[in-house]
Amino acid sequence: MNSFDQELSLAALLPPKEAERLCSSLGILLEAEVALQCLQGEVLGGALGLSTESRIELVLELEPIGYLLAPQAKPVARAAAAGLIRQLLIARARYLMASGLHMASTQADYEELQRQNTALKESEAKFKALSEELEVRVAAQIEIIDQRQRQLYQAERLASVGQLAAGVAHEINNPIGFVHSNLSTAQKYLANFCALATPVKTLPGGDAVWAAADMDFTLEDFADLLQDSIGGVDRVARIVSDLKGFSNVDKPEEEVVDVNELLTVACNMAEKRLLPGAVLIRDFEPSKPLMCLPGHLSQAFLAVLSNAVLAIENKGGAGEIRVMSRFVGRQIVIQIRDNGVGIEKDLIHRVFDPFYTTRPVGQGTGLGLTVACDIVRVHGGEIELDSTSGQGTTVTLNLPN
Ligand SMILES: Nc1ncnc2c1ncn2[C@@H]1O[C@H](COP(=O)(O)OP(=O)(O)OP(=O)(O)O)[C@@H](O)[C@H]1O
Ligand SMILES: [Mg+2]
Repeated sequence: MNSFDQELSLAALLPPKEAERLCSSLGILLEAEVALQCLQGEVLGGALGLSTESRIELVLELEPIGYLLAPQAKPVARAAAAGLIRQLLIARARYLMASGLHMASTQADYEELQRQNTALKESEAKFKALSEELEVRVAAQIEIIDQRQRQLYQAERLASVGQLAAGVAHEINNPIGFVHSNLSTAQKYLANFCALATPVKTLPGGDAVWAAADMDFTLEDFADLLQDSIGGVDRVARIVSDLKGFSNVDKPEEEVVDVNELLTVACNMAEKRLLPGAVLIRDFEPSKPLMCLPGHLSQAFLAVLSNAVLAIENKGGAGEIRVMSRFVGRQIVIQIRDNGVGIEKDLIHRVFDPFYTTRPVGQGTGLGLTVACDIVRVHGGEIELDSTSGQGTTVTLNLPN
C-alpha cells in the first residue's frame, strides 16, 4: 500500500515532541492544562491524568482520530483550540500525502532509471564482448589472408621458376642423353684403337710411326678426356634431375617421400653456390617415409640453405654448413647449421617477419624464412632459429611423422 493510501492516526500526524510542544502552547492560550489523546486512550502529549469528561473529538476526513483534553478550559476556548488542531492536522495530513506521493513517484523513477541503467550496462558489456570477439576474428582473418597472399606470391614466383626449370631440364635432357651415349660408344671405339697398338707396333716401321705420333700418350689422354667428359655429363644430368625435382613445387599434392632425398636435392643445389673453401656436410640418419608436400618442403629446405650459403659468403667464403636429419620419437628433426656471419641478438626476432631482409636492394625479398615457416606449419611442425652474431646460425625444423 502507498503511504498516501494509509489511514492516518493522530500519532502519525503528530510525533511525540510536536504533540508536547502543541499542548504546552495551547495550555498557555487556554490558561488550563491540555492533553492530546489517541483513540485507544494513550496520551500523546500534554498533562497526564486529565478528566476525559469534556474531551473534544478530533475528526479528520470524517473519521475520529483522537481527542483534545482540557477539562478546566472555557468551552468556547476549548472548541476553538480543537478547530485549530483540526486545521493543523488537515495541513499535516496533506503535507504527508503530498510528500508520500512525491516519494513514491521519485522511488518509481529511481527504480526505472536503475533498471534502464542495468539494461544499458548489460548491453554495453554485450557489445564490448562482441566487439572484442570481432577484433580477434578480424585479426585471425587478416593473418590468414596475409599468409595466403605470401604463399600465393611465393607459389607464383616458384611456379614460374619451376616452369622455367622444367623447360630447361627437358631441353637439356635429350642432348645430355645422346652425348652420354656417344661418349660411352667413343670409349668402346677407343678400346678398339688401344687393342691395335701391339699389332701396329709389330709392323715394319710401325713402332717408329706410333712413337712419332705420340700415340701412347694420345690414347691414354683421350681415355682420360672421355672419362672426364662422362663425369661432366653425369653432373649435368644430376643438376637436371634436381631441377626437375624442384620444379614440382607447383604441384600441391601430398606424397609419401623420404625426407633425406628432399634434403639431398636441396643440398646439391645449395652446394653448387658455395665459394671455394666452403663445405657442406651431410649427416643424415636413415629416415622413415613422410607424407608431405615434397615440392614445398624442398623449397623450405632450400630457403634455409640459401641463407646459410650467403652467411658464409658474407664472412669471406670459407666455412661449413652441416645438415643433419634425426628421428626422435615421432618427430623428424632437421638441423641446418652454418658458421657464417650470424645475426645480431636484437634482430633475431624479425627474421620470420614478411619482407624483412638485410640483403642489398634487389637481392632478397625477405620472404625466404617467412614462407619456410608457413610451409613447416602447414605440415604441423615448428621452425626455430638460433644465432650468435659473428659465429653462425642454427635453424631447426621439427616435423611430426
Ligand atoms: N643463416 C643466416 N645467417 C645470417 N643471417 C640470416 C640467416 N638466415 C636469415 N638471416 C637473416 O634473416 C633475413 C631474412 O631471411 P629471409 O630468408 O626471410 O629473407 P632474405 O634471405 O633476405 O631474402 P629471400 O626472400 O631472398 O630469402 C636475411 O636478410 C638475413 O639478414
Ligand atoms: Mg633467404
